[in-house]
Amino acid sequence: MKALILAGGKGSRLRPITYSIAKQLVPVANKPVIEFGIEAIREAGIQDFGFIVGDTAQDVMNALGDGSRWDAKFTYIEQEAPLGLAHAVKTAKAYLGNDRFIMYLGDNLIKTGVKELVEEFRASTSDALILLTEVPNPSEFGVAELDGDRVVRLEEKPQNPNSNYALVGVYMFTPAIFDAIDTLQPSFRGEYEITDAIQALLDSKKDVRSHIVTGWWKDTGTVEAMLDANRLILESMKHRVEGDVIESRIAGDVTIEPGAKVVNSLITGPAIIGTNCLIEDSTIGPYTSIAEGTRISNASVEFSIIMNECTIENLEATLFRSLIGRGVVVKRARSTPTSICVVLGDNSTVEIP
Ligand code: TTP
Repeated sequence: MKALILAGGKGSRLRPITYSIAKQLVPVANKPVIEFGIEAIREAGIQDFGFIVGDTAQDVMNALGDGSRWDAKFTYIEQEAPLGLAHAVKTAKAYLGNDRFIMYLGDNLIKTGVKELVEEFRASTSDALILLTEVPNPSEFGVAELDGDRVVRLEEKPQNPNSNYALVGVYMFTPAIFDAIDTLQPSFRGEYEITDAIQALLDSKKDVRSHIVTGWWKDTGTVEAMLDANRLILESMKHRVEGDVIESRIAGDVTIEPGAKVVNSLITGPAIIGTNCLIEDSTIGPYTSIAEGTRISNASVEFSIIMNECTIENLEATLFRSLIGRGVVVKRARSTPTSICVVLGDNSTVEIP
């Protein structure tokens, strides 16, 4: 069995971060989000990975390499344009050949991993197996109508949903999916939808089964979701302090990487402080990830992701629910108390009290 991980796309909901970084490489608990998916698929025993890549192809390839880090073989497949999930699968047809495969959205996280799902599909004769989760607001998702574990119908954002089971970004397919994709027309948003492809399988009397996930599942496509995913991953991490902690208090489960220095500060877990960070006279956490080489001095940061090589200093207000890219400087201005001075790229957001 092969894996197809989708790592292209537009990432428009995560701008401006996605102007300079692939959304699948945004760090969650200081690790590119896509690596959680790779690990989950490796745990299921799959070694042959294809990655759909788009505009950010080079960054994704540089970050992940040839797969040897995971004892796996990685193949990169360029998608000419982000024309939808079904289009991405079609683009990978030559790579996938006659193999059955797991399709995984590169910015998704799933608590339970995919081992059970992969084993279920290996043992089954069905044409596809889709992952579902129970949601309180099904009309905002692709929804599956079920008869036992058999999928009867799929509907995208239904007004009167027939179930509370929404599609999660993990799918198991046989090559039957390619014929289904060939029948598709673009949807109202101009994309070839994977839900339409699965519906086409059902229309041609193929056997599509479902598997309900019980733990959490996160699509990290927005800032809110990314911060929440960071919270969930941090909550699952154990206490590990390898850096220097000087005259500071560490409360709860905190990771402090080697080479990091925490001086006269309070770190409240769950939180992670990356390699070569310097945290001085500051309060960090909970639910906060600080990536390597960032310096924080005389400031307070809570429920946030701060990427590498940032400088944050002398803030009166707490930096809260923030997602901050690489090399950003946030500091107290020397100008008058009623003025602010910013350099912001396109689509940035600043909330001022
Ligand atoms: P989405 O988050 O649905 O799409 P997007 O990346 O275009 O984001 P936005 O809506 O914010 O503009 O995509 C889910 C995953 O699939 C994500 O990892 C990107 C990837 N993808 C592709 O590889 N090719 C595609 O054509 C599309 C639409 C998505």
